[in-house]
Amino acid sequence: MEGSTAPEGKAALTVVAISGSLRRGSANTGLIRAAKEICEESIPGLHINHVDISDLPLLNTDLEIDGGFPPAVEAFRAKVRAADCFLFASPEYNYSISGPLKNALDWGSRPSNCWGDRAAAILSASGGSGGSRMQYHVRQVGVFLDIHFINKPEVFIKAYQPPSKFDSNGNLIDPEIKEQLRETLLSLQALSLRLQSKPANSG
Ligand code: FNR
Repeated sequence: MEGSTAPEGKAALTVVAISGSLRRGSANTGLIRAAKEICEESIPGLHINHVDISDLPLLNTDLEIDGGFPPAVEAFRAKVRAADCFLFASPEYNYSISGPLKNALDWGSRPSNCWGDRAAAILSASGGSGGSRMQYHVRQVGVFLDIHFINKPEVFIKAYQPPSKFDSNGNLIDPEIKEQLRETLLSLQALSLRLQSKPANSG
């Protein structure tokens, strides 16, 4: 595993990070790059693995043959299964989850569900609402997928409100949001470690 070592006595965690925007210059993908930098610089034991979902086909169960999936889906599902926890960063599209992110969530949910019993955090850079409606829809989907979201902090970034928070390549340039991102990652690490340390017979 790359990067820093875990805090003493604690496991190193791999965070599978997924951007719900496929756009070059995406602010949400920029949030994942910033999260990776923050982990490498100052959060020992938390490693971001940015998983690109742009090559996933649109969900179609006809593509499942003899219990197998198309190669891109198999590779994606293996990365999700191997994760200790998840970080989603996504725009809101028409008051809800972006198509690419929903597609990825759905592929990972096909039997056997790859998302279950892991902690997750969600961020959004979006228009007027900052993506809050999308975030609550993802949390709702997470009920069925058995994903445990951190409750605080909540990070809703109004990407187009001045002053600029991202440069033209989608890189995060706002120090206050960087700090919110750091707090989010620390909260994700804490919840993930708590979930992993529960007694074996706790159900
Ligand atoms: C949007 N956008 C948007 N924003 C918002 O706050 N609420 C919304 O319902 C929508 N709906 C919507 C639909 C579609 C089809 C598009 C393409 C865009 C704006 C969008 O969230 C915003 O441009 C994000 O900043 C894009 O994120 P990336 O691509 O920079 O990560």
